[in-house]
Amino acid sequence: MDIPVKNPITRENHYKICFVCLGNICRSPTAEGIFQHLINERKLENHFEVDSAGTSAYHIGESANSKSQRTAQKHGITLHSKARQFDASDLDYYDLVLAMDNENLKNVRQMANGNHEKKIGRMRDFDPNPGNGEVPDPYHGGPEGFENVFQIVQRSCETLLDELETHVQR
Ligand code: 4NP
Repeated sequence: MDIPVKNPITRENHYKICFVCLGNICRSPTAEGIFQHLINERKLENHFEVDSAGTSAYHIGESANSKSQRTAQKHGITLHSKARQFDASDLDYYDLVLAMDNENLKNVRQMANGNHEKKIGRMRDFDPNPGNGEVPDPYHGGPEGFENVFQIVQRSCETLLDELETHVQR
């Protein structure tokens, strides 16, 4: 997808990003945690705000899934999310809304009702090795599925931040 570049005259110099999956307990909290970690490593905290949400209401208020937490921790990342449901106001607030799979993408687009086209995309639009373009749902599977999600999301987040970093002035 094309990154919506900030207005070069006002130079807001700040990106707000929301990652979206179904439950907001596995994939999008992993993306939020990894992306925030990369922001901190690159000392870009003043230029980015990151959050995550789910299209469903199934797990509202829950911390990240224990297998997602364990997997992230193994890689030195702590997941701090509390699950919430994505809603229409998020489409106004965030500059980029990245869905984990095609079903989440469809739901976000339906909510946008033809608006905000440019800011809506998929996490794997930024994966150098994008496979089928979806981050697979690991919820009912074993730990290897969670590790696979971590690897996909890590690659994608690195490429995404490489790209966005070129649009902010330090
Ligand atoms: P997530 O994973 O969308 O990556 O958070 C799931 C979490 C819960 C369910 C499905 C997927 N569920 O059906 O409850």
